[in-house]
Amino acid sequence: MQPKPMPMILDDPRELSRADPSDMLGTVLRLGPMVAEGWELASGVAVPAGRPDSVVVIGMGGSAIGGDLLRALLWPAAPVPVITVRDERLPGFVGTRTLVFLCSYSGNTEETLAAYNAVCAAGAPAVAITSGGRLAGRARRQGHPVIDVLPGLQPRAALPLLLMPMLRVASELGIDGSTEAEIRQTARLLIDLAHEWGPDVPAASNPAKRLARVLLDGRPAIYAASPFVEPVARRWKTQLNENAKVQASFDVFPELLHNEVVGWEQAGGTTPRPHVVLLRDAEESSRNALRVELAREIAFGPAPTITEVWAQGTSRLARLFSLILFGDLVSVYMAILSGVDPTPVEPITRIKTRLQPD
Ligand code: PA5
Repeated sequence: MQPKPMPMILDDPRELSRADPSDMLGTVLRLGPMVAEGWELASGVAVPAGRPDSVVVIGMGGSAIGGDLLRALLWPAAPVPVITVRDERLPGFVGTRTLVFLCSYSGNTEETLAAYNAVCAAGAPAVAITSGGRLAGRARRQGHPVIDVLPGLQPRAALPLLLMPMLRVASELGIDGSTEAEIRQTARLLIDLAHEWGPDVPAASNPAKRLARVLLDGRPAIYAASPFVEPVARRWKTQLNENAKVQASFDVFPELLHNEVVGWEQAGGTTPRPHVVLLRDAEESSRNALRVELAREIAFGPAPTITEVWAQGTSRLARLFSLILFGDLVSVYMAILSGVDPTPVEPITRIKTRLQPD
């Protein structure tokens, strides 16, 4: 199916700054430099001594996704389990040999602060990563290291500043093998890709602008073709929610062959139209590649479009971030095309306000 003609707004710098007054697009385009800056943030941090038995990342929303990415990056070679906790409670195994990262961009997220009480009660070594708020104050009083993140961003836009310090601490503890050279190469690649997919490249030859146009008249279903890229599929979904203000879903191969595919049986002719985006990576197994082919043939027939987006770069970090950059740009371009400001997240703010104690 041919996408409709592209409105010129995405190719017009004046229109772009009018539609995106807080410059979310500019922040997304800085993903590469922020990867390098995030790595530097953990330089000199007093890393809790000794190799932990497990790693737990506590956070919500834009501050939690870094935990999922950390797990994906460390899987399957990681010598210890890594999990993300999006809850006020902790799993019972958390104790003095668990390394806990507390991620809250604002430092004021209720669930994260409640979980921090449990971390302290369990006596677990913890590192806080935040731009301030109550978390920073409490962690300092507890004597836990605090990694200070630049304030003034939306939490979701700060992703590299939240993830990279965890990766550096993990590598200093010997549970990850990331190197400075890899970080530099990733940053370089993302800078190059930001030019390739950025606002200066016209829609006619810009795949991110084109996909934004395609997804605009439907409901995106984002599928990770392998578990390695599952957190990226979630990131696409949440960026589409928060930047473009649309509903979206995500799922992952091979699990989706055991349930989601059946849900396509009645998808023909439904509105909004379900557009499939497949996130693919060179590391996916030949069995998963075959599974994707079979799902396309047997289940996804009702989808008006199926778009494959392939990870770019060499290292696993670069490949994950290349897919993140593409999805972030698509979500901002979609917002601009549909005339919504990508930055504010009013329902989140209103609900948080209502939840505040009197
Ligand atoms: O993207 C967002 O704004 C949210 O998902 C927040 O990240 C989430 O509400 C948690 O807030 P914080 O990141 O400040 O802990």
